[in-house]
Amino acid sequence: MPMRVLLGCLLLLALALPAQGAGDYDAARRQMVARQLAARDISDQRVLAAMGRVPRHEFVPDNMRGQAYNDHPLPIGQGQTISQPYIVAFMSQAVRVKPGDKVLEIGTGSGYQAAVLAAMGAKVYSVEIIPELAAQAEARLKRLGYAVRVKVGDGNFGWPQQAPFDAILVTAAAKRIPPKLVEQLKPGGRMILPVGQESWAEELVLVVKDAQGKVSQHSLMAVRFVPLVGGDQKNQ
Ligand SMILES: C[S@@+](CC[C@H](N)C(=O)[O-])C[C@H]1O[C@@H](n2cnc3c(N)ncnc32)[C@H](O)[C@@H]1O
Repeated sequence: MPMRVLLGCLLLLALALPAQGAGDYDAARRQMVARQLAARDISDQRVLAAMGRVPRHEFVPDNMRGQAYNDHPLPIGQGQTISQPYIVAFMSQAVRVKPGDKVLEIGTGSGYQAAVLAAMGAKVYSVEIIPELAAQAEARLKRLGYAVRVKVGDGNFGWPQQAPFDAILVTAAAKRIPPKLVEQLKPGGRMILPVGQESWAEELVLVVKDAQGKVSQHSLMAVRFVPLVGGDQKNQ
């Protein structure tokens, strides 16, 4: 077969095929929800529905897209990670996010956790300390249609101008619970964060502020997160 005819045939074949991997991502996402979330202890339908919709492969570097729906965290640059899907689901479920809730996330990273919260109907505010990550996440969230407000700053101090919040999720490990974040929780509010003195060996802690403002905390499971840096964490 002459070369030009062969190239023409290959081009026609390429055009006839579906966009590279699009259907594969949908199937991988369905499988992630069924096997990694619903088959474990994630039963909140809003969490399952949101994670079934948010295109996680859009939040990882191009060369990692094939692994986007696997059961582990992935690097996103600047020495940071996008958390394991199960941890994103677990944290979203633990703080019982309802549509219309005002939610603060500390550690925007790729923007994926923020997108999941937005897909659950929350009004999301997210603080990231690394300006490059904040800029990339903000652009990505906008392109994908998630109305999340992103700010560059030290999340140890929360976002006082937008406080109080119904829920706060901290996605980096604190040496101790940042007092400013507890202050910025509404009465009846919930906060979840990894806490630990040892790096890479932390407990996921749920902090609950009751209607009278009394605060209690509950250890939920052992986890490993990148460290929360900055402000109040420095001299602990
Ligand atoms: C595990 S990653 C977050 C993953 C992110 N939630 C996602 O869905 O991709 C932790 C993030 O916390 C950020 N971080 C660490 N200390 C911080 C601080 N004091 N304030 C705000 N962000 C911080 C890191 O730069 C990093 O992007």
